[in-house]
Amino acid sequence: MIVAVERTLSILKPDAYAKGCLGEVLRRFEAAGLRVLAIKSLWLTASQAEAFYGVHRERPFFRDLVAFMTSGPVVVQVLEGRDAVATNRRLMGATDPKKADTGTIRADFGSHIEANAVHGSDSAQTAAEEIAFFFSQSELTALMPAESGSA
Ligand code: RTP
Ligand code: MG
Repeated sequence: MIVAVERTLSILKPDAYAKGCLGEVLRRFEAAGLRVLAIKSLWLTASQAEAFYGVHRERPFFRDLVAFMTSGPVVVQVLEGRDAVATNRRLMGATDPKKADTGTIRADFGSHIEANAVHGSDSAQTAAEEIAFFFSQSELTALMPAESGSA
């Protein structure tokens, strides 16, 4: 049977970074069959955060969201695996940690609707755009085996 392998963009937000739960969150992704294809840590600038969450530009929480996402370092990663977009969203739980299912990342590590530990792409199309936002083609292929026959 051919299994459709998908990619998604995941962010471990500043609250997760500050809490020291990066390892546990990564463990949950890996335990669910999601492989880390590319990963890096960075501190987003305001213009990066505004562009990344541009779809929410008109929402009342936009300024707070940008302030939060630039309040400390984040980890951005490309996760690859079967149904990666939906699997990641299931592991994350609902946007508001108070409403997230027991055992999800946001229920366990999120503090409130804004500081909710993780981001995940919400569709395959969004995932492709978000991956390209943070990772160059060479970063995405860096961990692939060298072509056979190359020196
Ligand atoms: P994300 O994009 O970060 O994975 O979160 P999501 O899909 O579950 O939720 P979305 O509606 O896309 O919201 C993006 C982020 O904005 C913050 N937010 N604050 N104060 C509020 O009412 C509110 N609503 C959303 C959260 O950080 C949310 O993850
Ligand atoms: Mg979203």
